[in-house]
Amino acid sequence: MKVKARFFSELMTALSLMMDLDENRKLYHAWRVAIVAEKMSRQILPEYRTQIFYAGLLHDIGAISLQDHVIHYTDIKEHFKNPILFNHCRKGAQIAMEIGPLAIAADMIMDHHEHWDGGGYPRGLKGNNINLGGQILRIADTFDILARVRPPLDLNGVKTILTSRRGSEFSDLMYELMISTLESGNFFEEIMDDKRVSEMLPEIISSLPPVDFSSCNSELRNVAKIIAQVIDAKHSYTAGHSERVASYTFKLATALGLHEDEAEKYEIAAFLHDAGKVAIPRSILDKPAALTIEEYKLMKKHPVYTMEIMSMVSELKDLVRIAGGHHERYDGRGYPDGSARDNIPLGARIMAVADAFDAMTSFRPYQKTKSKNEAKIVLVQNAGAQFDPEIAKLAISVL
Ligand SMILES: [Fe+2]
Ligand SMILES: [Fe+2]
Ligand SMILES: [Fe+2]
Ligand SMILES: [Fe+2]
Repeated sequence: MKVKARFFSELMTALSLMMDLDENRKLYHAWRVAIVAEKMSRQILPEYRTQIFYAGLLHDIGAISLQDHVIHYTDIKEHFKNPILFNHCRKGAQIAMEIGPLAIAADMIMDHHEHWDGGGYPRGLKGNNINLGGQILRIADTFDILARVRPPLDLNGVKTILTSRRGSEFSDLMYELMISTLESGNFFEEIMDDKRVSEMLPEIISSLPPVDFSSCNSELRNVAKIIAQVIDAKHSYTAGHSERVASYTFKLATALGLHEDEAEKYEIAAFLHDAGKVAIPRSILDKPAALTIEEYKLMKKHPVYTMEIMSMVSELKDLVRIAGGHHERYDGRGYPDGSARDNIPLGARIMAVADAFDAMTSFRPYQKTKSKNEAKIVLVQNAGAQFDPEIAKLAISVL
């Protein structure tokens, strides 16, 4: 299945929104930076509007594995000391490159923490050696972080802070451009208003020239696979988890006699099954000890967030319940819905086996890693309780 431009914009929009959840509050950081940067670019880089918009949405995607949301690291000295922060531009650029049609956005992301005076990172570039899109992202990023301290600043307050960084963090040109953008019409009031921001984003997407997918290898499956790698990058020990679950899911589905197209759909759902983890704090995901009741409650929300993300993408709507049902149990004691037996979609029942099998056979801080045979014994022991017995039996010969 070839990816349509709309698929791509919807998925980026959904992921960037969920990555910006901070203690259950939507920050809209990526959305705001994308909106401000796109508006600024209309004056100096109109031909790159689309690329800069997506660069804005994805600019901090490389920081997904930080302990706290990236906006909390306001001291640049910390950015030099913390390796995840220091590398997030490079990593984000790499992700954008892999998506294919975003090579130009990748260069912008790479430079989004460079400072006009050479005091930024990762390369310490100076002046106009810094990518122009990267310069726009820098000031848009700073604007969003500074403007929304609590209580939020008014336009004069924002101007005062931006003025103090003029000539060091960004150029006179960027400063003038930012001020004229903020002062045009009601833009400042609109961008400070979450509700308005959530309306503006789809308006902008539909007004942008679409991303050109014609020249790249953008099968839906491949994009889902890249996103899987991003999701798994959130915490160290899940590297490769979503890809393995996808491959087990595909194998089990074909062994069950499903048509290849159907099996591929399940595989795509499996690539994205833990997408909701982008919204769970790392302190919970990585906690080596037992979770408190409150933490466990939050952890159990990840399939709900997965469904929220996938519901925002038209082409994934059919797969929402499949991906969101991977922690349901055959006996009805699972979550989030507590559905049982045939009320759980077949794809979800398959994925429950694939997911548990991978969790048992790969490293987790809270358990001893099992061999494939040991894991299969557990699958059989739990057939009819946690797992669909037919699928658990099939796993013995297929996985
Ligand atoms: Fe950043
Ligand atoms: Fe940022
Ligand atoms: Fe999960
Ligand atoms: Fe999982």
